[in-house]
Amino acid sequence: MKIVTRHSWLSLGAVCAVCALSTLAISAFSVRKPATAAADARTIFNRQCASCHGRDGRGRTRKGRQTRARDMTDASWQDDVSDERLFNSISNGRGKMPAFRQKISENDIDALVAYVRRLRR
Ligand code: HEC
Repeated sequence: MKIVTRHSWLSLGAVCAVCALSTLAISAFSVRKPATAAADARTIFNRQCASCHGRDGRGRTRKGRQTRARDMTDASWQDDVSDERLFNSISNGRGKMPAFRQKISENDIDALVAYVRRLRR
């Protein structure tokens, strides 16, 4: 009987340790996420979008000219378009731009919308 009791205390202790560790892991993850989002968006943009849009968003690349990518730094265009439209264009494609919803998560598309906003000059 005694052994069983001690054993159950031990396993309770083990479960608590697992809980504490996963709580720590989860909080570390959620605290870190916003900090990395901006850097991630730039990395994704430079890898997947800059071939057409250019790193500066002006679309002055060979592929940008071929596909007629607009100048995304243009302030009056930025004023005209909603975040929702940018999100949908990136997800579903627009004109000669391919859809990215299969390749990029919704969170990352959100981060890309914010990144595109920062290209405004
Ligand atoms: C194959 C070339 C190409 C690639 C790669 C590409 N785009 Fe585009 N993009 C275009 C073209 C063409 C348009 C449509 C014309 C325009 O509005 O610039 C466009 C439009 C847009 C728009 C404006 C949409 C609107 O509603 O007016 C945004 C924002 C955008 N792209 C972001 C991105 C992001 C973010 C990526 C990378 C995940 C990306 N694009 C990758 C060619 C491309």
